[in-house]
Amino acid sequence: MRNLTGAPPAKGTRIVLLLIAQVLAIGASHAQAPANLNFKSEVSKQERIYRSEGDSVPAGYTVDRTLANYVDALSTGFDQALAALGPADRWLDIGAGKGQAILDYYAISYDLSYPQGRERRGRKANAVAMSIEDRRTADWSFSAASAGPNQLQYLFNRRLREYAVAELGQFQIITDVIGGFSYTADLTLFMEKVTSFLTTGGSFYSILQDVRAEAAGNQPYYKDAPFLTEIANEAGGEVQICSWLKSISCVQVTCELKKGWRPPLEAFHVQKVCNEVKVPALTLAHYEAGTPPERRFVLKN
Ligand SMILES: C[S@@+](CC[C@H](N)C(=O)[O-])C[C@H]1O[C@@H](n2cnc3c(N)ncnc32)[C@H](O)[C@@H]1O
Repeated sequence: MRNLTGAPPAKGTRIVLLLIAQVLAIGASHAQAPANLNFKSEVSKQERIYRSEGDSVPAGYTVDRTLANYVDALSTGFDQALAALGPADRWLDIGAGKGQAILDYYAISYDLSYPQGRERRGRKANAVAMSIEDRRTADWSFSAASAGPNQLQYLFNRRLREYAVAELGQFQIITDVIGGFSYTADLTLFMEKVTSFLTTGGSFYSILQDVRAEAAGNQPYYKDAPFLTEIANEAGGEVQICSWLKSISCVQVTCELKKGWRPPLEAFHVQKVCNEVKVPALTLAHYEAGTPPERRFVLKN
């Protein structure tokens, strides 16, 4: 069985601190944080994970997944959608780590694997890797220097929420493989940003590990632990991540449970179909640092 994180499967690998599910507003955005001092300490722990180097990188913090790993994990059709991009198109990978997936797309071997679109692709789509921390490698610098100007970009030191469309522009494809979608404390703002960076017709491909899938029936992967990301309504009833995504206006969503992974994954394909996107607001109720963190949100009425 595949293990997406490489992390040992024990619940103890997550840093445990339970937070009280009261909320208060933080920052200039509508981000919400549990009204507990521990939230700050969880955020600091999470920050240390992002900035970890060498031996201090936690075993579960994987930063070098290949494009083949992306194709395997993301929704069916992602690889064909990527292969169909031409030189005027753009791909953003949120939470790119070392940017290995983008490097693989730029490699000659990619054209051998996807020969049918090679001529139309020409010099390939522009690709932007985004990461909080700078994990560029010598391979990245070499490929970026060999490609045309601005063909390959690596953005770091900021989170997705800190960029505006006026600065980044829009993209035909946005991916996120255990990046910001798995790590953010503000899923509402995250999806507002993602949809603003998509062209109309553009697609967001992402996954979450260990969540209640649309094709329900699955239980939390770790004994006596909750799902890794959960949403509840104000009455305490469970809301599936897939249902919440489907309640966003102006998008079409498909959700695919990938049972072969340990923990199981749900893959999401969110296609923007019009511009009046409205994301139903979630409030953060619990955040526990980890790879990725454990999160609980409450859907506001
Ligand atoms: C576990 S690594 C995954 C790297 C890569 N996708 C892979 O599969 O190898 C998490 C990545 O997400 C990034 N990240 C987390 N939250 C983010 C956010 N809100 N905006 C941008 N990047 C984020 C981290 O900086 C890091 O690059």
